[in-house]
Amino acid sequence: MAKAPVNVTVTGAAGQIGYALLFRVASGQLLGPDTPVKLRLLEIPQAVKAAEGTAMELDDCAFPLLAGIDIFDDPKQAFAGANVALLVGARPRTKGMERGDLLEANGGIFKPQGEAINAGAADDIRVLVVGNPANTNALIAQANAPDVPAERFTAMTRLDHNRALSQLAHKLGVSVTEIKKMTIWGNHSATQYPDLYHAEVNGTVAADAVGDDAWLRDEFIPTVAKRGAAIIEARGASSAASAANAAIDHVFDWVNGTPEGDWTSAAVVSDGSYGVPEGLISSFPVVSRNGRYEIVQGLDLNEFSRQRIDASVAELAEERDAVRQLGLI
Ligand code: NAD
Ligand code: LMR
Repeated sequence: MAKAPVNVTVTGAAGQIGYALLFRVASGQLLGPDTPVKLRLLEIPQAVKAAEGTAMELDDCAFPLLAGIDIFDDPKQAFAGANVALLVGARPRTKGMERGDLLEANGGIFKPQGEAINAGAADDIRVLVVGNPANTNALIAQANAPDVPAERFTAMTRLDHNRALSQLAHKLGVSVTEIKKMTIWGNHSATQYPDLYHAEVNGTVAADAVGDDAWLRDEFIPTVAKRGAAIIEARGASSAASAANAAIDHVFDWVNGTPEGDWTSAAVVSDGSYGVPEGLISSFPVVSRNGRYEIVQGLDLNEFSRQRIDASVAELAEERDAVRQLGLI
């Protein structure tokens, strides 16, 4: 028997990530080749017409799995019945800004969206926040949805994870498929910590396979952590197709599970693991089992890793305090 369509709400549907994302969602790459989707697009009133244009193009693809498209400028309507919500709509930073500088401009978007998810989303709602600063925006949405289990709110560090895989693969001249157990810890910001002390390359600890601490500390980490800024510098616009790709990876693994013997990175609500204060939405090594992301437990952290994680988590705590001051949580 054919599966019932899954309602996927996408905010910022007329933006550049939206344009790279929606066609992949409608073609079945988000949830798998057997799952029909109904798209519910949310935009601000001024961008609804552009979203309608994208919807016309989606129609013109005649995707067999696309069971319908509705467009809204009201969060309550857009999130009604949503099973998956991709919160992309927010302003991107421009040259010279850090992602945290967007807090004031974007934070206000996520309170009403959290409230709308609380009011009307489906019981199995899963939320991925992409709009920056993603971790703290996810915290705002989560805090405003008290009836939804907190674990359903996540933020995207999968792009950083994928960037780390590629940088390491280039350095060692291996395929990304030979690398397992990569981790991004902390905030999706310049303080994030991509960890090569637990990643493995064909079974060898990645830091040992590299054998060059200076490269690890002075090239690898800054290249991954500042890649978003490098893309803005080069393109004149922030990453879009790679961000959409990471969103697809994040939700696909959440729903379908991570492969045995590997893990991935996602920002999830901390339960206090690894000394990250409970409630912060911080990136961890995670596996997905039975439709839930779970933090990988029991990893030993060396002094260097401990300091890096603590610095990023301190920034998350500051962002949380700032949005508290703004009355958003
Ligand atoms: P964009 O400016 O091209 O598109 C943003 C869209 O959001 C616009 O169409 C705008 O009208 C819409 N929007 C604004 N407020 C809205 C609201 N309240 N409700 C619904 N829609 C709204 O930007 P983009 O390049 O698509 O990037 C979107 C966000 O994603 C930015 O904040 C960017 O920094 C972030 N981003 C995050 C990652 C990550 O790894 N987490 C990666 C890339 C980009
Ligand atoms: C990215 O990592 O590419 C995005 O978060 C965009 C940005 O501002 O860096």
